[in-house]
Amino acid sequence: MDQQPVLATDRLLLRPYTLSDARAVQRLCGDYAVSATTLLPYPYPDGLAEVWIASLDEGTERGNAAAFAVTLAGDGTLIGGARLRIEPDHARGELGFWVAKTCWGRGYATEAVRALIEYGFSVLGLHRIHAMHFSRNPASGRVMEKCGMVHEGRLRGHIKKWGVYEDVDIWGILSEQVPPTRMYASPALSRVPV
Ligand SMILES: CC(C)(COP(=O)(O)OP(=O)(O)OC[C@H]1O[C@@H](n2cnc3c(N)ncnc32)[C@H](O)[C@@H]1OP(=O)(O)O)[C@@H](O)C(=O)NCCC(=O)NCCS
Repeated sequence: MDQQPVLATDRLLLRPYTLSDARAVQRLCGDYAVSATTLLPYPYPDGLAEVWIASLDEGTERGNAAAFAVTLAGDGTLIGGARLRIEPDHARGELGFWVAKTCWGRGYATEAVRALIEYGFSVLGLHRIHAMHFSRNPASGRVMEKCGMVHEGRLRGHIKKWGVYEDVDIWGILSEQVPPTRMYASPALSRVPV
């Protein structure tokens, strides 16, 4: 797919990033609280957000990435990010997501991830979507659970984060787990070409 749609949910618009998002991405991803449970660098270096955003089109065109800025439908404020890293040979996508700390606990991650899973299955034709989180980050696991993902196991000492080997939990969902009515007729998800 060479063009990414905008995904609309009840409260959010998930849209492609633009270079003008770079400052917000650096500020919000540079928050220690977001960095601590992701593989984002800390501190978040100047210039990285611009380089990362500029690299996204190529991934979209090659069909191995779908990255969305998560914004409030009301005023367009960027409050998070959600992306799939796609392995086309296996019709498989790895989910990643974050929400600005000031917006935690309002269901935004769940709303965004649901929309992205639905997009991955119904539009990108994926067979499997999976995600990992640090075991010490149960909020992320709860988001995955609420989105219908199944806990598949724990990988011990799988990632070295800031010098410490960390356990991670892995979750997955298969396309056949999602009822067709939700995949193709959800009123909460619409696709608007950009
Ligand atoms: C994880 C994260 C995305 C959650 O975002 P959010 O918008 O607050 O998520 P939601 O509000 O949709 O859902 C959070 C759920 O976790 C629950 N939760 C929060 N803290 C929890 C904890 N310590 N233990 C268990 N559940 C917890 C909330 O109660 C809520 O579940 P509920 O609706 O059943 O009450 C956000 O905290 C974040 O961006 N963290 C930093 C980056 C990150 O860890 N990303 C995920 C990497 S895999």
